[in-house]
Amino acid sequence: MANTLNSDLEGITVAETRLSQINGEKGELLIRGLPIDELASNASYEETVFLLLNGRLPTSEETDEFRGKLASHRQICDEVQAVLQRAAREGKPAMDALRMGVAAANLGVEEQDLRKDIHRVIAVFPTIVATYWRYQQGKEPVAPRDDLGHATNFLYMLTGERPSEARAAGLETYLNTVVEHGLNASTFTARVVVSTESDLISAATAAVGALKGPLHGGAPGPVLEMLQEVYETGDAEKYVRETLDAGERLMGFGHRVYRARDPRAAVLESAAESFHTEKGDGEFFEAAQEFEDVATDLLAEYVPDRRLETNVEFYTAILLDGVGIPKDLFTATFAISRVSGWMAHALEQLDDNRLIRPSSHYVGETKRSWTPVEDR
Ligand code: SDX
Repeated sequence: MANTLNSDLEGITVAETRLSQINGEKGELLIRGLPIDELASNASYEETVFLLLNGRLPTSEETDEFRGKLASHRQICDEVQAVLQRAAREGKPAMDALRMGVAAANLGVEEQDLRKDIHRVIAVFPTIVATYWRYQQGKEPVAPRDDLGHATNFLYMLTGERPSEARAAGLETYLNTVVEHGLNASTFTARVVVSTESDLISAATAAVGALKGPLHGGAPGPVLEMLQEVYETGDAEKYVRETLDAGERLMGFGHRVYRARDPRAAVLESAAESFHTEKGDGEFFEAAQEFEDVATDLLAEYVPDRRLETNVEFYTAILLDGVGIPKDLFTATFAISRVSGWMAHALEQLDDNRLIRPSSHYVGETKRSWTPVEDR
């Protein structure tokens, strides 16, 4: 049967999964059968990751044990710190520093085990990001504390101060919301690496590289810049029209799968609202909501044959800004959450492992013969 060319794999099913179910038409997302809004607003990140890896929510004892297991793997060795210090000194972006730090995270570790390294890979991401950021700010790194939860400890390592309950809860809601989302580009990348029976550090490093791109995880930073610019000018319609007239993409809108509003946007919108209202800059939040309405209407006018709604990144930008994550760390914070989804998919890939190797259709020259260099 002749293969039809499907260069972006849109609509191509390549795996069965029990981790998440996305209904693109209705705008629904289930994580191990749980609606995303119920999970994101109730669970700790540790409970969410336990659910992903084990298929059920943990008991309170299991949660405490799991939290302790992650906490015990948070440290990074001096050599990884040195890589991050140099990346910061040379002004490398956070996602490059994260990729370099993760790649070096195997130093000092005897054996790599494709199934047991999961907790260490998940646990070191916040330490790598926070250590880079402290150096980037000209400060000494803050050592992780093993008495704090995953989200709280990350905020603590960024500032050296324990965050407010509200900020920690807001970040936890975000981490739970973006932890897993089917075969998005970075998760598929991780599965391809594991399908060769390589190792989890290689899978995580490759996935970080995929997530960095602005079409995937690199959108929230530009979304915040866009909203801050329009908040100053007060003219959302002018900004959106200029962007679309220039043939550029509006960051934070559109999705390969959703043909309705991304269900994660509603979760993040309500979490962001509580921050900006409490912070007393509810006006900025309301301006963002107005921007969403204007942009959605204009996208329908400019791209009538495709329903383009806001995706997960729009309110991500507003919520992460609210909880005090620096804009330059938005995508790295996405990675801190999504690494657990990558690892859960890695386990699924291993369970039913076949080398992932699609075909290509040759359209180049044929029937050529060798020409000696003196005749070229
Ligand atoms: C994430 O896959 C996942 O699950 C990803 C993710 C996850 O959790 O892992 O959900 C996270 O990646 C969210 C997306 C973050 N990216 C952005 O916000 C960047 C802006 N969005 C777009 O670049 C775009 O919507 C994509 C890349 C997200 C999806 O693009 P598709 O599926 O390739 O859609 P398309 O390009 O086929 O769009 C069809 C038309 C195009 O018109 P033509 O070029 O064919 O004439 O819609 C237009 C597009 O130009 N369009 C947009 C647009 N998105 C699509 N036009 C303006 N602004 C946009 N944002």
